[in-house]
Amino acid sequence: MSINSFGHLFRVTTWGESHGPALGATVDGCPPGVPVDAAMIQHWLDRRKPGQNKYTTQRREADEVRILSGVFEGQTTGTPVQLMIENTDQRSKDYGDIMDKFRPGHADITYWQKYGIRDYRGGGRSSARETASRVAAGGLAREAIRAIAPDVQITGYMTRMGAHEIDRSRFDWDQIEQNPFWSPDAQTAADWADYLDDLRKSGSSVGAIIEVVARGVPAGLGAPVYGKLDTDLAAAMMSINAVKGVEIGEGMSAAMLTGELNADEIFMGNDGKPSYSSNHAGGILGGISTGQDIVVRFAVKPTSSILKTRKTITKAGAETEIITKGRHDPCVGIRAVPVGEAMMACVLLDHMLLHRGQVGGQIGENRGRIG
Ligand SMILES: Cc1cc2nc3c(=O)[nH]c(=O)nc-3n(C[C@H](O)[C@H](O)[C@H](O)COP(=O)(O)O)c2cc1C
Repeated sequence: MSINSFGHLFRVTTWGESHGPALGATVDGCPPGVPVDAAMIQHWLDRRKPGQNKYTTQRREADEVRILSGVFEGQTTGTPVQLMIENTDQRSKDYGDIMDKFRPGHADITYWQKYGIRDYRGGGRSSARETASRVAAGGLAREAIRAIAPDVQITGYMTRMGAHEIDRSRFDWDQIEQNPFWSPDAQTAADWADYLDDLRKSGSSVGAIIEVVARGVPAGLGAPVYGKLDTDLAAAMMSINAVKGVEIGEGMSAAMLTGELNADEIFMGNDGKPSYSSNHAGGILGGISTGQDIVVRFAVKPTSSILKTRKTITKAGAETEIITKGRHDPCVGIRAVPVGEAMMACVLLDHMLLHRGQVGGQIGENRGRIG
């Protein structure tokens, strides 16, 4: 079984645990000739890295990636690319209490129920340290996309933290990198800062909604029925730790619309390509990209490890209480943004390769033509 893998042609397998010596990703199926080096991948990992600001965990990890195989003289060779990140800040003592007790909201209890054995140090395989491997693989995917379809731009940002949502009339792409929350709305970012400060001091946590948009994606990616682009995107986002909901385009809100409001009307654009009056479809119709922005949204639950006493049970079945000390993010949604981007990159590249395999031709060229 390859349940630690995803992707059809661009196939990513992640390995490793939170407190093991290292973790990483083995990427098979990357096209040859993609210019890449460790620094290019490091750029994306640095965005996910803990301890970047006071709103994320103070666990100190260098998250330094090494490329062990599949790259020669600055280019991919078409052979498996092995990406490795060493774990450098493994303070096992922070996690001593969870050896026998199951932390509410964590996978401790289900790993135990399923396997009868678990690496309890920091959650082991269920720890979101695993997402560093995805971000490394996503960095490689971005370089391959740049080589195949240079117009594609993938950007994630936070649209909601708890009860506080961005105001879309203030949406500014340039703001996203300017605040610690990846918020496109500067004013809301300032409100979130105060809100999260209070929350952190009280030892609590909060959930978030992240939106990931891919611009410049050619029409035609994805396949009917079981190979839908939206199926793979939803699965990819849902596989991220703490994600409890995924939407494409209008998503759940489509249930509240009428047909005339929801179906995006089609016109001929000045460039001779179809254009649409709106994008309720989130850039995907029948599982195939329309050439519009691909819009995926996912909900991240509040951090379960909080400085509040919670009821739980021990491995032996005794009722007890637990308070999860250690270093935790008050809103894990912040660090989930680069992870969502990485998953979007892996899925899009995978579908570009699938499309090339089935239909041939150069992605982005003549795509979107009518007739
Ligand atoms: C980037 C990132 C960082 C996370 N950090 C923490 C954390 O510090 N504390 C915590 O309780 N959960 C954290 N989580 C969530 C847990 O890993 C997750 O809730 C847990 O493994 C149970 O899995 P599930 O929520 O997907 O069911 C994080 C999630 C992400 C995406």
